Amino acid sequence: MEGTSMSYGAVLAVRGVVKAFSAARVVMERSPHSVLAGEGATTFAVRNGIEAAETLTDDAKQQFEDWRRQHLEEEGSDHRGESHDTVGVICLDHDGNLCAGTSTSGWKFKHPGRVGDAPVVGSGLYCDSSVGAAVATGDGEEILRTCLSFAVVEFMRGGDSPQLACKKGIARLEETVKRSAAGRSVEEVNRMHDRLTVAVMAMNPKGDIGAASTLGPRNVHRGRPSFPLAIWRKGDPVRVVEETEIP
Ligand code: GLY
Repeated sequence: MEGTSMSYGAVLAVRGVVKAFSAARVVMERSPHSVLAGEGATTFAVRNGIEAAETLTDDAKQQFEDWRRQHLEEEGSDHRGESHDTVGVICLDHDGNLCAGTSTSGWKFKHPGRVGDAPVVGSGLYCDSSVGAAVATGDGEEILRTCLSFAVVEFMRGGDSPQLACKKGIARLEETVKRSAAGRSVEEVNRMHDRLTVAVMAMNPKGDIGAASTLGPRNVHRGRPSFPLAIWRKGDPVRVVEETEIP
């Protein structure tokens, strides 16, 4: 999403193209559409110069076969584990133009056809150069129904810093999850909360950044109680910081 012209492009459920960001960008820049899915997305991307490539690695295939052997009889059950791997990027240029992008393989071993938050404008990403940009990662179903990235940008529009906006966005998402758990026992709701894995980061046109997540000592992801982000400003080396280090 490009936040000065408010243009947006996405590809969903694509096979045969590794560079999903580039494929989404050609949809945004060279098609009259915003979203292309499946075979049509791949065909359009390849026709527009995006390299065709095999996306299924031998390692992923082996993991899937092992998983299928173990879980064949439990179709439809939740085997998310620690499978998220969304990349979210926000860039700001010298003239104050912001853009944002997300790319993901989604939920590991999901039902065919499932689409997460990453390509959905307002959920996985939102960008308005006059206010700020936000990108999300983690449990897509929760991010989708909260419209998390849009909410964070709207908090900034209301005057919040990127950091406060991210915190408020995560608080809203946790509230949404609680409401969806109405009628369940306190223990069950706590268990749901302890498994919730969502992070969001944001930037405003001044270059101030923010980040927040649902993680904590009781809810670690890949062994970490917080979410890492990489920050690069022209002339400086890349810094990797934990979301909790952002003041
Ligand atoms: N956030 C990635 C997904 O749920 O698909």
